[in-house]
Amino acid sequence: MSRTIIALDFSSREEVISFLKQFDEPVYVKIGMELTYACGLDIVKEVKAMGHKIFLDLKLHDIPNTVKGGMKNLAALGVDIVNCHCGGGIAMMRAAKEGLIEGTPEGKEVPKLIGVTILTSTSQEGMNNEMGIPGKVIDTVVHYAKNAKEAGLDGVVCSVLEAKAIHEACGNDFLTVTPGIRLAGNSKDDQKRVATPEFANEQGCDMIVVGRSITKAENPVETYKQIEKEISNGRI
Ligand code: C5P
Repeated sequence: MSRTIIALDFSSREEVISFLKQFDEPVYVKIGMELTYACGLDIVKEVKAMGHKIFLDLKLHDIPNTVKGGMKNLAALGVDIVNCHCGGGIAMMRAAKEGLIEGTPEGKEVPKLIGVTILTSTSQEGMNNEMGIPGKVIDTVVHYAKNAKEAGLDGVVCSVLEAKAIHEACGNDFLTVTPGIRLAGNSKDDQKRVATPEFANEQGCDMIVVGRSITKAENPVETYKQIEKEISNGRI
């Protein structure tokens, strides 16, 4: 299975289906809030039935009891990865994991749970001045990753720039899933901490999340294949 997760940031079922029809093999996709809020969770079931692997990126962040209940219901969908914000704290992340375990049907694999550290659209300045977190982004990200590990999570979402430090702090088995990927020459859009697939590979990122660089490309399938080639000599 590929290490590239394609972010399906579309607002309708029709766009998703026609996008996915271009691929002649199952891919790893990310379904986030844009698509879920437009189509409901039925779209998750439909994409799964097409044979694709799914990272359901709903970034839960609430009191532990609510997150536990939410995760319990998500676990029943049979997705491969789900996530919550590390900023919710260790108790919340533990509750998320408990909910997932409780909600996974017998005999099925518990979805991997990863924590969102600091969004790749957040700059150093934004973290300090708007979020009120002093210090360097890398230190907060590594601190959050350690919390996630302590809570029993399988890994984190971080930028490519932090993956190496996270593996050093949390071990190589701790997953680093990295958005903020841009091909050379592409616009950064709203992202701040970006890197190329090649650099992600060099930094030891386990999986990369690519949205607009693939979905808005002239030839999405070719671009996807090119990216997969660029990262084919990685750790997985
Ligand atoms: O189009 P682009 O490649 O920037 O899309 C990145 C995707 O990854 C989006 O769906 C965004 O929600 C998600 N994401 C992110 N940064 C994070 C966590 C998730 O960009 N830290």
